[in-house]
Amino acid sequence: MMIARTLEELRAAREALGPVGFVPTMGALHAGHLHLVATAKAAGLPVAASIFVNPTQFGPKEDFARYPRDEAGDLDKLERAGCALAWLPGVGEMYPPHHATSIHVNGPAAHWEGASRPGHFSGVATVVAKLFGQVRPEAAYFGEKDWQQVQVVSRMVADLGLPVRIVPVPTVREADGLALSSRNRYLTEAERKGAPALYKALTQAAEQIMAGKEVAAILHLTRQSLAQAGMVPDYVALVHAHTLEPIAGLAQPARLIAAAKLGAVRLLDNIPVG
Ligand code: PAJ
Repeated sequence: MMIARTLEELRAAREALGPVGFVPTMGALHAGHLHLVATAKAAGLPVAASIFVNPTQFGPKEDFARYPRDEAGDLDKLERAGCALAWLPGVGEMYPPHHATSIHVNGPAAHWEGASRPGHFSGVATVVAKLFGQVRPEAAYFGEKDWQQVQVVSRMVADLGLPVRIVPVPTVREADGLALSSRNRYLTEAERKGAPALYKALTQAAEQIMAGKEVAAILHLTRQSLAQAGMVPDYVALVHAHTLEPIAGLAQPARLIAAAKLGAVRLLDNIPVG
């Protein structure tokens, strides 16, 4: 596996490889990330993965400084997963002195994570656009775990006419249903036991909605059941799968999305409905 840390090294590696599939990450890699690499690999092109903890997508009160970092472990995992290239830019590569350009996203970025984390999706869109410009992949693989992020990135690619195909990849879960996340390691043992309640509540809500029950009532009950499981729900919503606008029925492609705080950890999950 080639490792590039400067734009010059990246350019040389890219010339050697030809067309690539791309998996952008912030490191602290788990089986969810590696499933993205495996999916990209199965599509037949050499795979490039990036590791960059992007400061501009963290709010001032968020966990940028204590976001888990394990470069040696991550490189080992990428190598074993069959990655051809690891791109590890420094902050100076990504945000050169006097940088003055960022991407503003509206539409699918307006609500939910966008409302709870002001500036988050601007930071994500900006860094992803930079990574696409640097790596110039044919296709880029994103986890459905961050459903809203995939829609925001897809919208940006369509709006800016970027020459990359966005491939969504299903969420990898623990045996008890909890979606894998780099932040799960911060759950206490007791919280970890309770955490699958989020996925369970979403699954039950989706069943009830498909059975024709009133959406608003089901969403209300779901918030209550999360609170009973010791969580502080941020939002539980039925949304149009691509615009992320709230919807009251199943006439259009629908997704059930939720965020809830459990102890110090903000859990995020979503499932299809219908
Ligand atoms: P990060 O949280 O490291 O996630 C990298 C990719 O892994 C994202 O596409 C995310 O959706 C996917 N992923 C995380 N957990 C997953 C799971 N359980 N199953 C499947 N895929 C999963 O998302 C980011 O980094 C950043 O915002 C980034 C896109 C790299 C821009 O900085």
